[in-house]
Amino acid sequence: MERTFAMVKPDGFSRGLVGEVIRRFENKGLKIVALEMRQFDRELAEEFYEEHKGKDFFSSLVDLITSGPAVGMVLEGPNAVKIVRTLIGATNPQEALPGSIRGDFGLELPANIVHASDSPQSFKRESKIFFGQDF
Ligand code: CMP
Repeated sequence: MERTFAMVKPDGFSRGLVGEVIRRFENKGLKIVALEMRQFDRELAEEFYEEHKGKDFFSSLVDLITSGPAVGMVLEGPNAVKIVRTLIGATNPQEALPGSIRGDFGLELPANIVHASDSPQSFKRESKIFFGQDF
């Protein structure tokens, strides 16, 4: 079994999509191992999105992620990292396929409803930052 980290971002939260996103993960058969709502401050946001520091969209991304609560979760299942990335769709919601979360609900970057780890290493790092503990 593999684990991954996924997070409904504040744009998804404010649109009332927390239940919809969790429903899709559960419908797929993934198990929720941990779930928590939290408010990012700028320091935490900059740590979480460290790899994007210096990019032109970084400040708009930090603005977005600090704009309201986010709901983070650890999901477990076979090949969970890849499966969750497929369920959420391409980063740019204008390119994400219909049927994916971003394809069905997103319209314009940086607001793309949901984030998910892109590797087991990212899962370890991101879940530790969000939950303050190791998974
Ligand atoms: P996420 O999967 O959370 O990882 C990094 C985030 O940066 C991404 O989703 C988007 O919210 C944002 N992002 C990535 N690329 C761009 C871009 N070209 N313009 C604006 N925002 C972006």
